[in-house]
Amino acid sequence: MLTFTKAVALAVANVALALAQTSVTVNVGSTFQQIDGFGVSQAFSRANEFKALASGPRTKGLDYLFSTTTGAGLTIIRNRIGSGGTGDSILPNSPGSPNATPNYVWDGSDSSQVWFSQSAMSYGVKTIYADAWSAPGFMKTNGNQGNGGWLCGVTGKTCSSGDWRQAYANLLVQYVKYYQQAGIPVTHLGFLNEPDYVTSYSSMQSDAPQAASFIPILYNTLNSNGLGNVKITCCDATGWPNQKTLTSGLVSAGMEQYLGVFTSHMYSGDPNSPLSTKLKVWETEAADLNSAWCTTWYSNGGPCEGLTWANKIHTGIVSANLSAYLYWEGVEVNQFQASSYLVASDGTTVTPSGRLWAFAQWSRFIRPGAYRVSTSGTVSNVNIGAFKNTDGTVAVVFTNNGSSAQSVKLSFSGFTPSSAEAYLTDNTHTVASTTATLSGGAVTVSVPARAVLTVKLSDGGSVTTTTTTTTTPDGPTSTTTTSSTTTTTTTTTTTATATTTTTTTTTTTTTTTVGGCTAAHWGQCGGQGWTGCKQCEAGTTCKYSNAWYSQCL
Ligand SMILES: *[C@@H]1O[C@H](CO)[C@@H](O)[C@H](O)[C@H]1NC(C)=O
Ligand SMILES: *[C@@H]1O[C@H](CO)[C@@H](O)[C@H](O)[C@H]1NC(C)=O
Repeated sequence: MLTFTKAVALAVANVALALAQTSVTVNVGSTFQQIDGFGVSQAFSRANEFKALASGPRTKGLDYLFSTTTGAGLTIIRNRIGSGGTGDSILPNSPGSPNATPNYVWDGSDSSQVWFSQSAMSYGVKTIYADAWSAPGFMKTNGNQGNGGWLCGVTGKTCSSGDWRQAYANLLVQYVKYYQQAGIPVTHLGFLNEPDYVTSYSSMQSDAPQAASFIPILYNTLNSNGLGNVKITCCDATGWPNQKTLTSGLVSAGMEQYLGVFTSHMYSGDPNSPLSTKLKVWETEAADLNSAWCTTWYSNGGPCEGLTWANKIHTGIVSANLSAYLYWEGVEVNQFQASSYLVASDGTTVTPSGRLWAFAQWSRFIRPGAYRVSTSGTVSNVNIGAFKNTDGTVAVVFTNNGSSAQSVKLSFSGFTPSSAEAYLTDNTHTVASTTATLSGGAVTVSVPARAVLTVKLSDGGSVTTTTTTTTTPDGPTSTTTTSSTTTTTTTTTTTATATTTTTTTTTTTTTTTVGGCTAAHWGQCGGQGWTGCKQCEAGTTCKYSNAWYSQCL
């Protein structure tokens, strides 16, 4: 039992502690870019294997990706528009010439990406990005969907078979229509993937003038088909330096009027500064391709660790003005054990990685349509990002990249919080509720070393809309919306209880050598039918192989 004197001494100690805190102010009225969200892909047959899991692990995998209570709460998916033969492309065979009637084929599955899209939508995902890695081979200068080559008819590239630009635009629009008929609104459409990289799997080259000689055709084709609301993206380059060059070329060529979003990957350079454009910018494919599968949150700052990715997301969103950050794959089943996906399954169990929880610390709390807002004040080794959601809530993400805990007092300008919650991920917590003390309109939190802590604040006196979504594995969604009005009470003290969740680490490393290449991934196969493809095609030999992909030439 505390004596009166001890209690006074404790109170004095608390005041002393409060004075040692670092102050940060969130300027809620000062807005930067709008956020579209966070996401993953299940391209190259990874949706087939995911769908084929028994319903238990399949639902668990979907929950890990999309649930806002037990998973990352992702809000964007990226599908691959196939360019190969039957079962991959909707136009497996050449109609003979660019103006001949194409014989489109729709199998209703699209390598289970239809299932994946519908599943994501059942959790409330609304942003569906469909991206083509290449045009079909018969539309290209090299007659092959792989090994680079250009779309016939783009600047400087002619083919004896004619100009296939309009035919390619028609194919992409037809793909969007098939999805529309399946009840899936494709919101973003891309016609290139890594146009700065030539590889044996589907790949097509393009520079800025070449892309500019196609973009208006695609834009007009979408419009004339009543799909003018679908945003065209460009160019999913391998990394930031190359996408900067493509972007400046496209902006100079006047392409911003046709495009919706500039898109880039991060393999040849992370997004670390804004692209010079008024359009939104997304990082659409990011992964650690080289290290073995790991579930670690923090060990030594290695490339597969969760904290490493939390820092990358922070830098992308805050320093590079990104509106979206997508990892490469979501759930992979019995693949080679690289860290190129967020959740691993051996067919029975489903294991999340630290990287998944890095995404959760952002995506659960910063929802589509939010705006990034400015902050002032710095905390040693702590990266800070602040956001205002469309429902009026404010989220502040602290990424403590340092080795000591930091106490932060968070004040607000243009916003009066009436309640505060905080969630923590570090080596011993997984998006666990932790203490946030609200007093006098300011919130005090302690950010542990090597941790991400997200504070979620509700505004006093505003109308709060609570949407409860009940999700079933494959079925429709039932939504209940309730509105309530909260009153401003600046003197309230809210203290959430700390919860401890222990992360189980499972590391499996299996390497098999087949056909001269390390049995790893689809990169080894120059052709179609990616499932189970583990060796070089006839007439090719392994030229390069790492944990993630190989090249057979
Ligand atoms: C950030 O992105 C928005 C579009 O989302 C753009 O209008 C703005 O100019 C960009 N800011 C900077 C500093 O590049
Ligand atoms: C995090 O810390 C590492 C190691 O000190 C450093 O290399 C990296 O740049 C830091 N990242 C950020 C975003 O501060």
